[in-house]
Amino acid sequence: MSPPLLFAPLELRGVRLRNRIVISPMCQYSAQDGLVGDWHLVHLGKFAQGGAGAVFVEATAVEKRGRITHGDTGIWDDAHVPGLRRIADFIRGQGAVPALQLAHAGRKASMARPWYGNGPLTPADLERGDRPWSTIAPTATPIDAGWITPRAMKEGDVQAVLGAYRNAVRRAVAAGFDILELHAAHGYLLHTFLSPLSNPGPLQDRMRFPLAVAAEVRKAWPERKPLFVRCSAIDDVEGGWSLEDTVGFAGELKKIGVDVIDCSSGGIQGSATAATKMLVPRVPGFQIPFAERVRREAGVMTMAVGLILTPQQAEEALQAGRADLIAVGREALHDPNWPLHAAAALGVDPDFAQWPVQYGWWLTRREGLLRKLGVRK
Ligand SMILES: Cc1cc2nc3c(=O)[nH]c(=O)nc-3n(C[C@H](O)[C@H](O)[C@H](O)COP(=O)(O)O)c2cc1C
Repeated sequence: MSPPLLFAPLELRGVRLRNRIVISPMCQYSAQDGLVGDWHLVHLGKFAQGGAGAVFVEATAVEKRGRITHGDTGIWDDAHVPGLRRIADFIRGQGAVPALQLAHAGRKASMARPWYGNGPLTPADLERGDRPWSTIAPTATPIDAGWITPRAMKEGDVQAVLGAYRNAVRRAVAAGFDILELHAAHGYLLHTFLSPLSNPGPLQDRMRFPLAVAAEVRKAWPERKPLFVRCSAIDDVEGGWSLEDTVGFAGELKKIGVDVIDCSSGGIQGSATAATKMLVPRVPGFQIPFAERVRREAGVMTMAVGLILTPQQAEEALQAGRADLIAVGREALHDPNWPLHAAAALGVDPDFAQWPVQYGWWLTRREGLLRKLGVRK
């Protein structure tokens, strides 16, 4: 049997991943004024120790008004760099590639943290000191009734946001990240340009600004470092952005020099990952078919994500050519050592050699003892 693809290293431009497992970006809503702290270092550090090929820092705001909540991490100021650098250095020190997701929340900015309601800010949030702020979007259309109405972006806003992305890339380089991802999914700013539900008009016009951002970022990001874009491959709402649109968009991104399309879905009218009303049923691996079609039809590498639970499921997707990378999110919250456990399950690491030596040395000896005691076969 050929060695599992999940543990075959992957070269992306000048960056080498030790395996094909990527920890998906996951907001912690735990930053202060955009600054990362010890929580972020330990949270992300666990995943690097846990054997992932790359570890993504959560959606990090390129502008202060582009935060989802008051707790979002930021990269709109040079003061954000040292904390991010500490995280990137630690991830790299553990053999994983440090990756960062750049984001602008658009009309989904100024929200309550998930555990305080995951919706518009309420009087209870105000009492906690979380005040609302004004938001921008392609049109002055709120997400739904009860949400803040964004201001429609003017030419000055377009230039300001492009400049913010440019500066964010410069800071990401200074912080030592090796992969960048543009968040163009889940109802945030770039996605609201793409979707006809938030930005009526011809497809070419809707794609113009997200493509301009991608081009600007590619120009500022070193040639040897890969660039990913996360898309909501479908809006999952009647009359919304379609998989066919994503294939076309992916083709344009490829021409700009985007290396990987990260295929998520949903979020244009509310929650993405925590959504309860969807047309496409949430079953294990429900978004893998999106990664497969984009890969096949746009001829670009893809990352599959969403309810990928077992190493066997991940391996099958890679073997079948449905994706090039596998991202795990909540499964890694549940088990930060998911990649190391996957390596054991697929027979790649029978003797804890891939574990940090501080743990592996002990676990090998313990395994011998457990065998002798008959606890292990
Ligand atoms: C706590 C949490 C925070 C998240 N934050 C982000 C984020 O910052 N950026 C993003 O693109 N997706 C975010 N997501 C979505 C995940 O990256 C992932 O796509 C989703 O959880 C589905 O994968 P899973 O089933 O393996 O968890 C978040 C999900 C969770 C659970």
